[in-house]
Parts: sequence; structure tokens; C-alpha cells
Amino acid sequence: MRKKIVAGNWKMNLNYAEGISLFSEIVNMVRDEKKGDQQAIICAPFIHLNSLAQLGGSTVSIGAQNCHQKESGAYTGEISAKMIKSVGCEYVIIGHSERRQYFAESDELLAEKTVITLQNDLIPIFCIGETLDERNNGSYFEVLKSQFQKGIFGLEGNDFSKIVIAYEPVWAIGTGLTATSEQAQEVHAFIRKEIDAKYGVEIAENTTILYGGSCNPKNAAELFAQKDIDGGLIGGASLKSRDFVDIVKTFN
Ligand code: G3P
Repeated sequence: MRKKIVAGNWKMNLNYAEGISLFSEIVNMVRDEKKGDQQAIICAPFIHLNSLAQLGGSTVSIGAQNCHQKESGAYTGEISAKMIKSVGCEYVIIGHSERRQYFAESDELLAEKTVITLQNDLIPIFCIGETLDERNNGSYFEVLKSQFQKGIFGLEGNDFSKIVIAYEPVWAIGTGLTATSEQAQEVHAFIRKEIDAKYGVEIAENTTILYGGSCNPKNAAELFAQKDIDGGLIGGASLKSRDFVDIVKTFN
């Protein structure tokens, strides 16, 4: 079902006490100020998930930022989808560009992670995005198509209909250089058209496609007003309760 979502990605930030404090502020502000049916999510480091899931209740949902592709086993240091589900998480970010870049996560590996996330009744937020070179040399549609074809187009329609997609141009992440609403809408419309061609118009129209990359309270309204942009995946601005909740309120 096509939902309006504003998801915060805290990345590798906030110790335990800081996380509880910030999240409590966000929950209280969302409870008092959100007027529409948009969904607020915080995707936090693993140490926070259990506590936040208990604090968030039905006001703010919780997500992880990654999971291992296997159910369990001798993978020291890793966290499984089953474990994430067991602490009350509903979402998992899969394939963030920082994991593709720093941890060499291939499209094939991300396809495995997506499957095991769905098998554990979690909702993958599947990330795709092009680099500045790929944007400047005009190969971005080809790059994005390869990412989603290899990463999620192997899913059956029923499973595909459960996922959320996040378009995050790598050159806009953490740079303050946001894609223009025209650039973002162009890519979102392309993604939706490709989904239509593969899975049909009903699934295409009901797939939530988020924008991520220097989204903030000043630019969120113009971005979210675009026909094919259904919300945002927010990095830096999610570490400030007022900024994050102001972005959530864009859909009021
Ligand atoms: O996952 C969201 C993140 O990559 C965007 O970061 O700081 O540009 O909002 P930021």
C-alpha cells in the first residue's frame, strides 16, 4: 500500500542515553503535532532498537540499518533479521550507499538480504542511488535500473508489494546539495514506470518511493509535493527533533 513515510536514519550516531533522550522528544512531538496518516520511522543503531520499539509504540515505528543475509550461524559480530524482528522492529534499511561503498555490498548480496528481511516479516527500505560521475555522464538511469533489477526485481509480486524504495543520489547525501525536485521527480517517475512494466500498474501505483539526500525542513515541502515522491529518508536532520518532526509535519 502506498504510504506517506518520513524515516530518519541516525547512521552511526548517539550513545544509549542520547538515543533514548532524542527519541523521547521525537515521540512526544509527533504525538502532539502530526495531523495526517503519514508514518514516522526512526532507523537506529542496533543498541537502541529494543528500547525505542517499546517507547515508540504506535506513534513512531522502528527500523534497523542493516541485517545479515543468513538466518543464523557463525558470523561473528553480525545481526540477523530474526533478531531484529524479535526486538520489535518493523523495518530494515537495505543497500544504503554507505554500505555499498564501505562494505562492498553487491546487488546480489542485497537481494539475499531483502529476501531474508521479508521472510522475517520485516519491511525492507531498499536504497538505490547514483554517484556524481554517473549523474554527470548521464548513465544514472542505467545504473539505477541495474540496482533495482538485480536487487529487488527477482521478487514475486506479492513480496515486492511489501517493500519501500528509497532513491538517494549519493552526491546529495550529507553534502547539503539536495537534488532539485525536478531531478528527484524524474527518477521517481522512472522507477515507478519500471515497476509498472515488471509488476503491473496496481503494484507500481502502490509502491512507496522515498527521496533521501540533504532533505530538510526548508526543501521537504517542494520535494514531497512531487507526484511520485512519497516521503523522505532523512539523515542529518533526523538527529534534531525539531527538524525531523517539521519534516514529518510536511504531510499534515
Ligand atoms: O539514509 C538517509 C541519508 O543517506 C541521507 O543523509 O544527511 O543527506 O539527509 P542526509
